[in-house]
Amino acid sequence: MKQNLILIGFMGSGKSTVGRELAKVLEMNFVDTDHYIENKEKMKIKEIFSLKGEKYFREIEAKYVKEISKMNNTVISTGGGVVASDTNIMLLKKSGFVIYLDCTVECIYKRVSRRNTRPLLNDVEDLHSRIVELLNERIDNYKKYMDDKVYIDSKTNIWDTVDKIKKMYIKFD
Ligand code: S3P
Repeated sequence: MKQNLILIGFMGSGKSTVGRELAKVLEMNFVDTDHYIENKEKMKIKEIFSLKGEKYFREIEAKYVKEISKMNNTVISTGGGVVASDTNIMLLKKSGFVIYLDCTVECIYKRVSRRNTRPLLNDVEDLHSRIVELLNERIDNYKKYMDDKVYIDSKTNIWDTVDKIKKMYIKFD
């Protein structure tokens, strides 16, 4: 039975895109925690936050992470805030190999500015400062729970990232 491959990192670091491609090249299943939540709740993440609030989102995120961590042979792309709960990330870590997508603030800023689907970054006065603030809150946990990491900036090619992680995972499994 193959161990899971779990991708953690800040919003906009590319977890979903990289995860989907990794699942193809490694011939594994793919689950994105946010999409899983949206399917189960039949609502977009943005709507869950606006209609029910962040506290409710974190509760269901924990519930579905518990379900997802029971899977195997799966590449799991996580929401950026999954690591804020030690219980969530410990459950995921027990199920496999955790890679941190260590993306520069500049790169995160560029990518998240293009979309308005992330409630925690919408309607903020200074997006750059907000990213730095949230990243500072989470960085210790990203580093504490990762088994390995890949560095990403605006020039990084997605295929290089996929290839690097694939090699790390094969060595681990
Ligand atoms: C969040 C990240 C989002 C999503 C939600 C909260 C966070 O996922 O789970 O908006 O707290 O960092 P992505 O990292 O896929 O954008």
